[in-house]
Amino acid sequence: MPASTILVSEVFDGVPSVFPLHVRVRTMVEQLIFTGSWRAGERIPSSRMLAEQLGVSRMTVQTAIDELIAGGYLRSAPRSGVFVNTHATVADAPTESGGDVAWARWIRQPVTPGIPHLQRVPEWWTYPYPFITGQHDARFFPDRQWLSAVRKSLGDDHRHASLDDNLIDDMLLIDELRRSLLPSRGIFVERENVLITLGAQEALALLADTLVRRGDHVVVEDPGYVDARHVFAARGAELVPVPVDDQGLRVDDLTRETSLCYTTPSHQHPSNVTLSPDRRLDLIRRARDDDFLVIEDDYDSELCYRGRPTPAIASHDPHRVIYLGSMSKLLAPGIRVGFVVADPALIRALAWRRRYVHRQVPGVTQRALALFMRDGSFTRSLHAYRRELAVRWEVATGTLHTRFPDQVFPPGGTALWLRLPDGATSDHVVTAARERGILIDPGELYFADAATGSGFVRVGFSCIDTEHVRPGLLALLEVIEECRG
Ligand SMILES: Cc1ncc(COP(=O)(O)O)c(C=O)c1O
Repeated sequence: MPASTILVSEVFDGVPSVFPLHVRVRTMVEQLIFTGSWRAGERIPSSRMLAEQLGVSRMTVQTAIDELIAGGYLRSAPRSGVFVNTHATVADAPTESGGDVAWARWIRQPVTPGIPHLQRVPEWWTYPYPFITGQHDARFFPDRQWLSAVRKSLGDDHRHASLDDNLIDDMLLIDELRRSLLPSRGIFVERENVLITLGAQEALALLADTLVRRGDHVVVEDPGYVDARHVFAARGAELVPVPVDDQGLRVDDLTRETSLCYTTPSHQHPSNVTLSPDRRLDLIRRARDDDFLVIEDDYDSELCYRGRPTPAIASHDPHRVIYLGSMSKLLAPGIRVGFVVADPALIRALAWRRRYVHRQVPGVTQRALALFMRDGSFTRSLHAYRRELAVRWEVATGTLHTRFPDQVFPPGGTALWLRLPDGATSDHVVTAARERGILIDPGELYFADAATGSGFVRVGFSCIDTEHVRPGLLALLEVIEECRG
């Protein structure tokens, strides 16, 4: 068999057989042209020959050739045959060496170096004691009600609204947030005060892009939410870590140069402490006196297991305080819905910025969530989930108190912040725990100075079976004891 015949068959065989035959023939010819095996101006084998070589019908080959002629890759000359069209040949098509792109040079904005990433252990659900964080218990997701809301969102009454695309979010959803979620946080606002985002993370990114200039001093809690640190650092902000104690962010430690302060006052991430009333008022006073803005990330205040959540700081000063909410902890992170409540001038600026990234949150999702909230499904599912989390919190804190009676675990959130006893370091404990099937997060992830974090671990209880909480924590206590020795 001549070499060219072998090459043609080889290239043809390399095209996945899932495609229809004429597509495979067309792809084969394209590859032969791009790699320079068939050169500009060269006559290609006749359709009869190709059909024989490839074991397909002439008609199949002819269909492929006709498509390539229509696309300008080949040209047909009457009575002479079919030729590779000059312009279709890629003279310097990627070769093995020329095809290499020096990505290290091209990736000019790598994700913020020097800041760690929260990462989940792959297949965490296969571990007996997955005390992982940042995840929602999928068993509590109301599949049936959500599906029904999505179906309705595409019904005749809603189809147009859910498929609209513009700067304006779904008013039904905004009204539901204004009616059933924000008032419990002490927030009463108009429609133009609300923007729907792809989770709180997008809200943070839009805010950072809009409000932060290179070198601005942005206060972050220490320990604090590492994903927020990434966002501000990536925009060139000077991060100013401010310590947190048993009353939350130490507002007295803020410097006069502050231009933005990011805080999680309801359940401080990761310590779960609630910012005290005095500190809240101090923060607002400082923001006014020193002329800075506050971002209040209120991501899970509804997950409160005793009494009611304290009102949002934004309820005291809706002008300087930009409020962020999220459905990630309350419904599921995969829904990807968050929202910003702020002055209409800022909301408009954020909406324009968002427009040039991804336009807006999918209309179907917005409308489905609105309907899901309106018929009470959201409240019912949140209450059921909260009841279960409250049981897990009671069991978890009861178990840990037997060993750490002095530690305070605020009654809320989805994870416990545990101070390790002297002698035990977090990396050691996390590794040894994993070997016993226990997954927890190392404290280093949360501090500006990783060394400070080695005395802490974070123990999530949002995904573990309620009956596994106690045995899992007893096993963890054993691990901690061993790591001390
Ligand atoms: C402090 C904090 N903010 C916000 C969120 C929610 O982020 P998103 O809405 O982007 O999922 C989380 C979830 O882990 C969080 O821990």
